[in-house]
Amino acid sequence: MPGLTIGDTIPNLELDSTQGRIRIHDFVGDGYAIIFSHPADFTPVCTTEMAAMAGYAEEFKKRGVKLLGISCDDVASHKEWIKDIEAFRPGAKLTYPIMADPDRKAIRELNMVDPDEKDARGVSLPSRTLHIIGPDKTVKLSFLYPACTGRNMDEVLRAVDSLLTAARHKGKVATPANWKPGDRAVIGPSVSDEEARKLFPDGFETADLPSKKGYLRFTKV
Ligand code: BEZ
Repeated sequence: MPGLTIGDTIPNLELDSTQGRIRIHDFVGDGYAIIFSHPADFTPVCTTEMAAMAGYAEEFKKRGVKLLGISCDDVASHKEWIKDIEAFRPGAKLTYPIMADPDRKAIRELNMVDPDEKDARGVSLPSRTLHIIGPDKTVKLSFLYPACTGRNMDEVLRAVDSLLTAARHKGKVATPANWKPGDRAVIGPSVSDEEARKLFPDGFETADLPSKKGYLRFTKV
Protein backbone atom coordinates (compact mmCIF):
# COMPACT_ATOMS: atom_id res chain seq x y z
CA MET A 1 0.00 0.00 0.00
CA PRO A 2 1.46 3.40 -0.88
CA GLY A 3 2.33 5.64 2.06
CA LEU A 4 1.30 9.19 2.78
CA THR A 5 1.60 11.25 -0.39
CA ILE A 6 0.63 14.58 -1.98
CA GLY A 7 -3.01 15.45 -1.26
CA ASP A 8 -3.35 13.09 1.71
CA THR A 9 -4.39 14.47 5.10
CA ILE A 10 -1.54 14.30 7.59
CA PRO A 11 -2.51 11.90 10.42
CA ASN A 12 -3.63 13.88 13.45
CA LEU A 13 -1.19 12.20 15.84
CA GLU A 14 -0.56 13.38 19.38
CA LEU A 15 3.03 13.02 20.56
CA ASP A 16 5.38 14.25 23.28
CA SER A 17 7.88 16.85 22.18
CA THR A 18 10.62 19.05 23.58
CA GLN A 19 7.92 21.72 23.96
CA GLY A 20 5.19 19.55 25.50
CA ARG A 21 2.41 17.46 24.01
CA ILE A 22 1.66 18.24 20.35
CA ARG A 23 -1.38 17.31 18.26
CA ILE A 24 -0.30 17.72 14.67
CA HIS A 25 -3.46 19.37 13.26
CA ASP A 26 -3.57 21.90 16.12
CA PHE A 27 0.12 22.63 15.56
CA VAL A 28 -0.40 23.27 11.83
CA GLY A 29 -3.36 25.54 12.63
CA ASP A 30 -4.41 27.88 9.82
CA GLY A 31 -0.99 28.16 8.18
CA TYR A 32 1.70 25.99 6.63
CA ALA A 33 4.01 23.69 8.56
CA ILE A 34 7.06 21.57 7.80
CA ILE A 35 7.34 18.21 9.56
CA PHE A 36 10.77 16.66 9.13
CA SER A 37 12.25 13.43 10.44
CA HIS A 38 15.77 12.37 11.38
CA PRO A 39 17.20 8.87 11.78
CA ALA A 40 18.47 9.37 15.33
CA ASP A 41 19.73 11.83 17.95
CA PHE A 42 23.49 12.36 18.35
CA THR A 43 24.31 11.38 14.77
CA PRO A 44 26.49 13.57 12.54
CA VAL A 45 24.35 14.47 9.53
CA CYS A 46 21.22 14.91 11.68
CA THR A 47 23.06 17.34 13.94
CA THR A 48 24.10 19.48 10.96
CA GLU A 49 20.53 19.41 9.55
CA MET A 50 18.95 20.42 12.86
CA ALA A 51 21.44 23.27 13.24
CA ALA A 52 20.86 24.38 9.64
CA MET A 53 17.09 24.37 10.17
CA ALA A 54 17.53 26.47 13.33
CA GLY A 55 19.43 28.99 11.20
CA TYR A 56 16.54 29.19 8.71
CA ALA A 57 13.77 29.34 11.34
CA GLU A 58 13.37 33.12 11.01
CA GLU A 59 12.94 32.88 7.21
CA PHE A 60 10.20 30.27 7.62
CA LYS A 61 8.53 32.36 10.34
CA LYS A 62 8.46 35.41 8.01
CA ARG A 63 6.48 33.24 5.57
CA GLY A 64 4.12 31.99 8.30
CA VAL A 65 5.55 28.46 8.16
CA LYS A 66 5.98 26.49 11.40
CA LEU A 67 8.70 23.90 11.93
CA LEU A 68 8.26 20.54 13.65
CA GLY A 69 11.07 17.97 13.95
CA ILE A 70 10.62 14.28 14.77
CA SER A 71 13.17 11.66 15.74
CA CYS A 72 12.65 8.23 17.26
CA ASP A 73 14.52 8.90 20.50
CA ASP A 74 12.74 10.16 23.62
CA VAL A 75 12.25 13.73 24.80
CA ALA A 76 15.04 13.53 27.42
CA SER A 77 17.48 12.49 24.68
CA HIS A 78 16.25 15.26 22.34
CA LYS A 79 16.78 17.88 25.08
CA GLU A 80 20.38 16.72 25.64
CA TRP A 81 20.97 16.63 21.87
CA ILE A 82 19.75 20.24 21.46
CA LYS A 83 22.75 21.35 23.56
CA ASP A 84 25.08 19.80 20.95
CA ILE A 85 23.10 21.27 18.05
CA GLU A 86 23.26 24.79 19.50
CA ALA A 87 26.96 24.42 20.35
CA PHE A 88 27.68 23.26 16.79
CA ARG A 89 26.17 26.48 15.44
CA PRO A 90 27.15 29.12 18.00
CA GLY A 91 24.46 31.77 18.44
CA ALA A 92 21.70 29.54 17.03
CA LYS A 93 18.69 28.78 19.19
CA LEU A 94 16.64 25.75 18.34
CA THR A 95 13.21 27.35 18.71
CA TYR A 96 11.08 24.65 17.09
CA PRO A 97 9.83 21.50 18.87
CA ILE A 98 11.20 18.01 18.22
CA MET A 99 8.63 15.25 18.68
CA ALA A 100 9.59 11.89 20.17
CA ASP A 101 8.58 8.57 18.66
CA PRO A 102 10.38 5.91 20.70
CA ASP A 103 8.02 3.10 19.66
CA ARG A 104 8.20 4.22 15.99
CA LYS A 105 4.46 4.09 15.40
CA ALA A 106 4.28 7.70 14.24
CA ILE A 107 7.03 7.40 11.64
CA ARG A 108 5.12 4.52 10.05
CA GLU A 109 1.91 6.57 9.83
CA LEU A 110 3.83 9.56 8.51
CA ASN A 111 5.61 7.48 5.83
CA MET A 112 8.99 8.27 7.35
CA VAL A 113 10.50 4.79 7.72
CA ASP A 114 13.82 3.93 6.08
CA PRO A 115 13.82 0.12 5.71
CA ASP A 116 17.57 0.16 4.94
CA GLU A 117 18.63 1.85 8.20
CA LYS A 118 18.30 -0.16 11.40
CA ASP A 119 19.29 0.45 15.00
CA ALA A 120 21.33 -1.97 17.14
CA ARG A 121 18.16 -4.03 17.80
CA GLY A 122 17.46 -4.35 14.06
CA VAL A 123 14.46 -1.97 14.17
CA SER A 124 14.03 0.41 11.21
CA LEU A 125 15.02 4.04 11.71
CA PRO A 126 13.32 7.09 10.20
CA SER A 127 14.50 8.36 6.82
CA ARG A 128 15.11 12.06 6.20
CA THR A 129 11.51 12.73 5.22
CA LEU A 130 10.09 16.24 5.07
CA HIS A 131 6.42 17.01 4.48
CA ILE A 132 5.15 20.52 3.79
CA ILE A 133 1.59 20.66 5.12
CA GLY A 134 -0.98 23.25 4.06
CA PRO A 135 -3.65 24.99 6.13
CA ASP A 136 -6.10 22.28 4.97
CA LYS A 137 -3.81 19.72 6.72
CA THR A 138 -2.91 17.95 3.48
CA VAL A 139 0.56 17.15 2.21
CA LYS A 140 1.59 19.70 -0.42
CA LEU A 141 5.13 18.43 -1.07
CA SER A 142 7.50 15.81 0.35
CA PHE A 143 11.23 15.13 0.35
CA LEU A 144 12.38 11.56 0.90
CA TYR A 145 16.13 11.33 1.50
CA PRO A 146 18.23 8.44 2.79
CA ALA A 147 20.41 8.70 5.91
CA CYS A 148 23.57 9.38 3.86
CA THR A 149 22.24 12.61 2.29
CA GLY A 150 21.64 15.74 4.35
CA ARG A 151 18.93 18.05 3.03
CA ASN A 152 19.55 21.49 1.52
CA MET A 153 17.58 24.09 3.50
CA ASP A 154 17.83 26.59 0.62
CA GLU A 155 15.85 24.06 -1.43
CA VAL A 156 13.29 23.61 1.37
CA LEU A 157 12.81 27.39 1.48
CA ARG A 158 12.63 27.60 -2.33
CA ALA A 159 9.98 24.85 -2.35
CA VAL A 160 7.96 26.79 0.26
CA ASP A 161 8.23 29.97 -1.83
CA SER A 162 7.06 28.05 -4.90
CA LEU A 163 4.05 26.57 -3.08
CA LEU A 164 3.09 29.95 -1.61
CA THR A 165 3.39 31.60 -5.04
CA ALA A 166 1.19 28.96 -6.67
CA ALA A 167 -1.35 29.20 -3.83
CA ARG A 168 -1.43 33.02 -4.01
CA HIS A 169 -2.34 32.72 -7.69
CA LYS A 170 -4.92 30.01 -6.96
CA GLY A 171 -2.99 27.37 -8.86
CA LYS A 172 -3.02 29.37 -12.13
CA VAL A 173 0.79 29.61 -12.12
CA ALA A 174 3.60 27.14 -11.47
CA THR A 175 7.32 27.68 -11.01
CA PRO A 176 9.79 26.35 -13.60
CA ALA A 177 13.09 24.53 -13.11
CA ASN A 178 15.55 26.32 -10.82
CA TRP A 179 13.02 29.09 -10.16
CA LYS A 180 13.70 31.43 -7.29
CA PRO A 181 11.65 34.33 -5.89
CA GLY A 182 11.80 37.28 -8.30
CA ASP A 183 11.99 35.04 -11.39
CA ARG A 184 9.06 34.73 -13.76
CA ALA A 185 6.57 31.93 -13.24
CA VAL A 186 4.82 29.89 -15.93
CA ILE A 187 1.10 29.99 -16.60
CA GLY A 188 -0.62 26.66 -15.97
CA PRO A 189 -1.92 24.59 -18.91
CA SER A 190 -5.57 24.91 -17.78
CA VAL A 191 -5.47 28.70 -18.30
CA SER A 192 -6.44 29.90 -21.80
CA ASP A 193 -4.61 32.84 -23.40
CA GLU A 194 -7.82 34.87 -23.00
CA GLU A 195 -8.01 34.17 -19.26
CA ALA A 196 -4.26 34.78 -18.93
CA ARG A 197 -4.64 38.28 -20.44
CA LYS A 198 -7.24 39.08 -17.77
CA LEU A 199 -5.29 37.50 -14.89
CA PHE A 200 -1.91 39.01 -15.75
CA PRO A 201 -2.37 42.64 -16.84
CA ASP A 202 1.39 43.00 -17.45
CA GLY A 203 0.99 40.29 -20.07
CA PHE A 204 2.95 37.12 -20.70
CA GLU A 205 5.57 35.85 -23.09
CA THR A 206 5.09 32.64 -25.02
CA ALA A 207 8.19 30.61 -25.90
CA ASP A 208 8.47 29.99 -29.63
CA LEU A 209 8.84 26.20 -29.82
CA PRO A 210 8.80 23.87 -32.84
CA SER A 211 5.38 22.41 -31.91
CA LYS A 212 3.80 25.91 -32.01
CA LYS A 213 1.44 24.72 -29.27
CA GLY A 214 2.01 27.89 -27.22
CA TYR A 215 2.00 26.07 -23.89
CA LEU A 216 5.13 27.57 -22.34
CA ARG A 217 4.08 31.03 -21.18
CA PHE A 218 6.08 33.13 -18.73
CA THR A 219 4.69 35.91 -16.59
CA LYS A 220 5.78 38.15 -13.72
CA VAL A 221 4.29 37.20 -10.35
C1 BEZ B 1 23.74 10.74 10.43
O1 BEZ B 1 22.93 11.55 10.83
O2 BEZ B 1 24.91 11.04 10.19
C2 BEZ B 1 23.34 9.30 10.20
C3 BEZ B 1 22.28 8.75 10.88
C4 BEZ B 1 21.94 7.42 10.65
C5 BEZ B 1 22.65 6.68 9.73
C6 BEZ B 1 23.68 7.25 9.04
C7 BEZ B 1 24.04 8.58 9.26
